[in-house]
Amino acid sequence: MNNAILSCRKLNKRLGNTVAVDKISYEFESSHFYAIKGHHGAGKSTFLQILGLLEDSDNGSVYIDGKDVSKLSDKKKAKYRHKYFGYIFSSPLLNEKFTLLENIMIPMMIDRSKEDSECSAGELLKIVNLYDKKDSYPHELTKVERRKAAVIRAFANSPACIIADNPTSGLEDDDERLIFDILKEYASSSDKCVICVTDSDEVENYADSILIYGKGGLGK
Ligand SMILES: Nc1ncnc2c1ncn2[C@@H]1O[C@H](COP(=O)(O)OP(=O)(O)OP(=O)(O)O)[C@@H](O)[C@H]1O
Ligand SMILES: [Mg+2]
Repeated sequence: MNNAILSCRKLNKRLGNTVAVDKISYEFESSHFYAIKGHHGAGKSTFLQILGLLEDSDNGSVYIDGKDVSKLSDKKKAKYRHKYFGYIFSSPLLNEKFTLLENIMIPMMIDRSKEDSECSAGELLKIVNLYDKKDSYPHELTKVERRKAAVIRAFANSPACIIADNPTSGLEDDDERLIFDILKEYASSSDKCVICVTDSDEVENYADSILIYGKGGLGK
């Protein structure tokens, strides 16, 4: 039986003169940590943005649990983005006006009480040993601490699918391993998957599949 929780069919995207996404079809299954590697400028970030419903493709479709979501209204797509995806980018976008704890709990408060969100955000901070910094503002944190916070913030609403674009770039080996370890643990749940673009070789010790991004598809 096919247990793809996210899939795409014949995705195409041209940016200027470049074909960034070239007829890519793939089925991403649950309980799986996918690493995607490929040349600089090949189109990996563009592909992730389309998969995560942050950008439209020129052609092709994205399916969530078998349903074509690529032609939905912006409002419906926004709902999927909130419920279904957690995003991790290489530059952590934490809001300077809020403390670390608030940064993590704010996305939770859309559908949960303040108390419940605060409690869950605290638990996530403990995973990355940042609970004692919960009242710090982003500028008071180190680069690594901000990065770890951005990773666990993506877990805020227990999304089915984590989309990560170079989440460990610029980190020391130990911190890189910690982040991959957290992602691997998240992906091991029966109803989750992690799709991570990375240029790190260390990911080979953590990912279930290493896919190579190129013209005409995702290969092994
Ligand atoms: N707005 C744009 N207009 C024209 N070309 C663009 C635009 N944005 C990106 N590109 C080009 O599209 C291609 C794909 O970019 P993309 O950022 O998806 O690649 P990437 O594989 O993520 O690269 P990297 O490994 O450096 O992060 C690149 O050649 C890039 O220069
Ligand atoms: Mg990129």
